[in-house]
Amino acid sequence: MSTAASRRPGREWLDNPAGLGALVPAGFTMGVATSAFQIEGAILDDGREPSTWDTFMAQRGRIADGSDAAVAADHYRRYEEDLKLMRELGIDSYRFSLGWSRLQPGGRGTLNRSAVAFYDRLVDGLLASGISPMATLFHWDTPEALQHTGGWMKRDTAHRFAEYSFLAGEAFGDRVESWVTINEPATVTLNGYALGVHAPGATLLFDSLPAAHHQLLGHGLAVEALRAASVTGAIGITNVHSPVQPAGDREDDALFAELFDIVHNRVYADPVLLGRYPVIPEQLEHLFAPLREIEPSDLATIAAPLDFYGLNYYMPTRVAAGAPADASTPDGESAAARSLPFSLVPMREYSVTGFGWPIAPDSLAVTLTELAERYGEALPPVVITEGGASFPDVVQRDGSVDDEARVLYLAEHLAVAFAGAPGVTLRGYFVWSLLDNWEWAAGFTQRFGLVHVDFETQKRTPKRSFAWLQRLIGGRTL
Ligand code: NOJ
Repeated sequence: MSTAASRRPGREWLDNPAGLGALVPAGFTMGVATSAFQIEGAILDDGREPSTWDTFMAQRGRIADGSDAAVAADHYRRYEEDLKLMRELGIDSYRFSLGWSRLQPGGRGTLNRSAVAFYDRLVDGLLASGISPMATLFHWDTPEALQHTGGWMKRDTAHRFAEYSFLAGEAFGDRVESWVTINEPATVTLNGYALGVHAPGATLLFDSLPAAHHQLLGHGLAVEALRAASVTGAIGITNVHSPVQPAGDREDDALFAELFDIVHNRVYADPVLLGRYPVIPEQLEHLFAPLREIEPSDLATIAAPLDFYGLNYYMPTRVAAGAPADASTPDGESAAARSLPFSLVPMREYSVTGFGWPIAPDSLAVTLTELAERYGEALPPVVITEGGASFPDVVQRDGSVDDEARVLYLAEHLAVAFAGAPGVTLRGYFVWSLLDNWEWAAGFTQRFGLVHVDFETQKRTPKRSFAWLQRLIGGRTL
């Protein structure tokens, strides 16, 4: 048999996870990641107030299956069961997010005590289990009250975020071992403010760039705030990177590939690591006018030294000049995308995940090399804070979930991560995700978990990938 799948290098590790485990470099952290809004549910409990996603998901036609995250994976109530799963899995670290709208309802003022108590229980439970807590301060649940004053389009939101970060630092800074300020600011800007497929649903295209700048400023101010709160843990940011290639050899293909690389990757990485925005090709300069109006001293704040750089890697992107024939983005149909002068084209040489995303571990290697080349000495140790894949997993009659495709995905991406890349100090890999969860605009249609969740009963069923990862982790020669 010589199908594409049978030739995939990950196959050699399918039945030998311990063999791959033997390749884990010394000191490399193995973890899993989640986010508050996607798993917690209990959105009206204990004083939580709405976030922009509460509002967005209630609007008709926004979520693929018409679902909402009111219950999600019910983690707010079932966190002890989920902690037990993490202990069984044997991970070193758990990356979760602190719900901003839970901890600081309304986005101002003192922290909500019940919410602090919940995250205290979670953090203490992790530590008692020997699992290092990594907390993300902002994983997209902007308090709706701040959206009423413009959300991330307004500078004030960066200051509100810094204030919240200081309070969270005071509350958990003695125990949280790693802090991520902001998760994927690029996705918030592009999906939320430019294309309108995520909350808050704005379709500003390039006029959304202030949302990028204010998140970056919020990040820099949060780093200062955490240090001022004397947190003991390491501090970083999480950016999503996708290596970009032009679809053909026309000059315009190259130009728009560069444009996509700028708006998806460089606008976020360059200021954080180099203290400047990327150089924009002359023909495209007019699109970036909003970035010319920033306060220059912001860049020094944004470039505050970091202890690690968080990288989310999912897939590469191929870009062609010309408006898209079909304006669907990975996160839904966007009318705004139709007016763009370029389109993202399928990469047919790769097999795809449930989302249709190309499975390209070679591009993870490209991303690492690109980071080393672009940022050199300025690149702190890198942690892959997310990587994973959605597949339409089903529970079999015998109660098992055979997600071989996810095992293959993980085997190939972990092999690349363990091999590393020259010029990059790679410190860890966090699988997205521990649990099947509420996948934003895709609702419950995409399952990313190592653990299957039946959203009717909330029954958790560890998948084959869970057992496989457990054996990999157990096979490490530490
Ligand atoms: C990145 C985001 O941080 C996470 O929330 C999301 O579920 C995954 N990508 C998969 O789309």
